Amino acid sequence: MSYPYQIKSLEAYHEAYKQSVETPDNFWGDIASHFFWRRKWDSVLEWNFTEPKVEWFKGARLNITENCLDRHLDTLANRPAIIWEPNDPAEHHRVLTYKDLHYKVCQFANVLKNNGVKKGDRVCIYMGMIPELAIAVLACARIGAIHSVIFGGFSAQSIADRLIDANAEYIVTCDGAFRGQKDIPLKSVIDDALIGCRFVKRVIVCTRTRTPVSMIKGRDVWWEDEIKKIETLGMTTCPAEEMDAEDPLFILYTSGSTGKPKGVVHACAGYMIYTNYTFVNVFQYKPGDIHFCTADIGWITGHSYIVYGPLSAGATTLMFEGVPTWPDAGRFWEIVDKYKVNILYTAPTAIRSLMGFGLGPLQGKKLSSLKVLGTVGEPINEEAWHWYDEHVGKKKCPIVDTWWQTETGGMLISNMAGITPSRPGWATLPLPGVQPLLVDENGKEITEADEDGVFKGNLCIQAPWPATIRTTYGDHERCRKNYFSTYPNLYFTGDGALKDKDGNYRITGRVDDVLNVSGHRIGTAEVENAINMHAGVVESAVVGYPHEIKGQGIYAYVISQTTHGDESLIRKDILQTVTRIIGPIAKPDKIQFVKGLPKTRSGKIMRRILRKIAEGETENLGDTSTLLDPGVVDDIKSGKV
Ligand code: WT7
Repeated sequence: MSYPYQIKSLEAYHEAYKQSVETPDNFWGDIASHFFWRRKWDSVLEWNFTEPKVEWFKGARLNITENCLDRHLDTLANRPAIIWEPNDPAEHHRVLTYKDLHYKVCQFANVLKNNGVKKGDRVCIYMGMIPELAIAVLACARIGAIHSVIFGGFSAQSIADRLIDANAEYIVTCDGAFRGQKDIPLKSVIDDALIGCRFVKRVIVCTRTRTPVSMIKGRDVWWEDEIKKIETLGMTTCPAEEMDAEDPLFILYTSGSTGKPKGVVHACAGYMIYTNYTFVNVFQYKPGDIHFCTADIGWITGHSYIVYGPLSAGATTLMFEGVPTWPDAGRFWEIVDKYKVNILYTAPTAIRSLMGFGLGPLQGKKLSSLKVLGTVGEPINEEAWHWYDEHVGKKKCPIVDTWWQTETGGMLISNMAGITPSRPGWATLPLPGVQPLLVDENGKEITEADEDGVFKGNLCIQAPWPATIRTTYGDHERCRKNYFSTYPNLYFTGDGALKDKDGNYRITGRVDDVLNVSGHRIGTAEVENAINMHAGVVESAVVGYPHEIKGQGIYAYVISQTTHGDESLIRKDILQTVTRIIGPIAKPDKIQFVKGLPKTRSGKIMRRILRKIAEGETENLGDTSTLLDPGVVDDIKSGKV
C-alpha cells in the first residue's frame, strides 16, 4: 500500500492546503481516485450550510469494507490488521491478519443477514474492546446496516433512549466486559434497557466473561451458535452491499447543551476518504507501522482511528481491552514494548493520570519503537505535554495535538508529525480542506488582535470537509439549529479558540453548556435532568471546574427538600441516580447542597456565577445586579465544598 497523497514536507503542506481551498473538487477528487469504487462520482461536492446540505462524491457507489479489507487481500493478506491485547496480561493476545479479518467480517455479516438484518436497518452494538466489536462494526458496514455503537459505560436508561431514537431492532452485545479489575455485566444492562424496548427483535450475545446471563427465548441468540449455523449452511462468502456515497454509515450519539443526546450521522464515502487521509498524513503512517490508539471504539476516536482510518490504509491497528493503570500504571509502556508500537495516540487525561504515578512505571521500559505521539479529546496542559515528550517520546517523537469532534468525523486542526511544527498546548494549523474562522458573539469575524498579536473568538468552519456531520438522526432541523444556525453560513463548533499571527490555533475549550470530563463530552443539562430524577431533589445546576486529572470535574449545586437521612446519604443516592440514568462517567465530583440558586428575574440560572464559585473565585463574580435575590450568592459562597 502506498499513499501518493501523503504530504512529505512543509512546502508540500502549504501547497496542498492552497489547492484544497482553491480547487477543492480537484484536490479531493484526486485523493478519492486511489480508492476502490463500484461507480465513480458525478460531482465531488455539492453543498449549502443553510439547509444544511453536504454531498460528497454524489452518484458514486462503494462499500467501505471493500476498501478496508478486500482491496488489501492481494498484497497484504498476511499482514496483521488487528492486534488485540487482552485486559489480563496473562491471557494470550490475538492477531487477525487482513485475510482473517475479511473472513470473520463476512461470516458475521452473514449472521446478521440470517437474523433478518437488512440494508438501512439500525444495529446497536454494546460490547467491550474485543476484536468481535470491530468485526461487528465492519459486518454492519458490509451489508449496509447502520451501526450505532454505545460505549460500555452507559447505563440501561441511556441505551434505551438511544435504541428508541434510532428505532434499532437489532443488538450485538457480550455477556460481559473486562476492564481492569472490573467485570461489567453488559448483557444484564441490555436486559434492563430492553424492558421498555419491546420493538427489539434480536440480541446477539458474544461470549467473553462467562458471566451468567438470561437468554430470552425467541429474542436472544449466542454469537458462536449463529456462526456455526452459517457454517452448516455453507455461507462462507458475503458480497459487499453496494452503497451510495451519501448513504449513512453510522450513527454515534453525543451530548450537546440540551438534555437529549444527538445521533450524529456520517456518510459512507466522505467519511472513508477523510479518516484515511487524516490518518495517513497526521501520523505520517508508513506501511508496516504498528498504530496504537488507546480510545474505546464506543467513541468517535475509536471509530475513526482504530477501525476505519487505519484499516482503509492497510495499517496494523492495536486494540487494547483494558485500562492504563491495571495491573499497574506501566501497562501502556509494556504494550508499546511488547508489540513495538510506532504510533501512540491517547488522551491528555490518561497522560496526566499516568504522570501522577511518577517515573517508576517507566523504568525498564525501552519505548524505542515509538516514532509519533498523539493527543486528542481536550486541551493538553504544558506540563503534561512536556512529560509526554521527555519520558515517553524521549524528545525524539513529534507530538500531534489533534483537534476535532464527533461531528467532524476526523481531525480538523492538527500539526502533522515531523512535517509541520508542534507547539505545546496548540493544535496549530488547519489540515488541508479545513477553513476555520474566529467570530464574535454576533458572527462577525475577529479582525483585531491583542497586544501579542493573538486573535480570540468562537471557532467556526467556513466550508465542508468530506467527513462533515450530515444530519442528526431522525431530526434534520435539530442538526441545522445546533450547528448551522448560530452563525449564518458557518459550522459552529461550540469551542473557543485563539489564533496567532502565523495562523496557529489553540483550542481553549467549550463555550456552550457542555463539559469535557476526561475527554468525554457531557451536557450539563443531561446531568441536571438525571439529578432531578431523585425524589429528594427540588432543583439542581451543574457546572464544570478545573480538575487536575480529568481536565474538568462536575460540580453540582442541589436544592434538596428531604429531611430523611443525613446529607452524606442523599449525596450517595444522587450519585447512584446519575449512574442509573446516564452512567458512571457523569457522576458529579462535588455536590453542594444549597437553599437557592442565583437566578435572574426571568428565572434563568446564572451559571457564570456558579462556575466562578466552583472554580474557587469568591471576589470577582462579575455583574450580579440582575439577580433576583443577591443574598443567595453569599449563602452559596459560605457553603462551598
Ligand atoms: C470536543 C469534542 C475528537 C475526539 C474526542 C472527543 C474537545 C477535542 C481537542 C484538542 C482541545 C479538544 C473540544 C471538542 N477537543 N480534541 N486536541 N484540544 N480540545 O470528541 O466527544 O466529540 O468532543 O473535545 O472541546 O469540541 P467529542
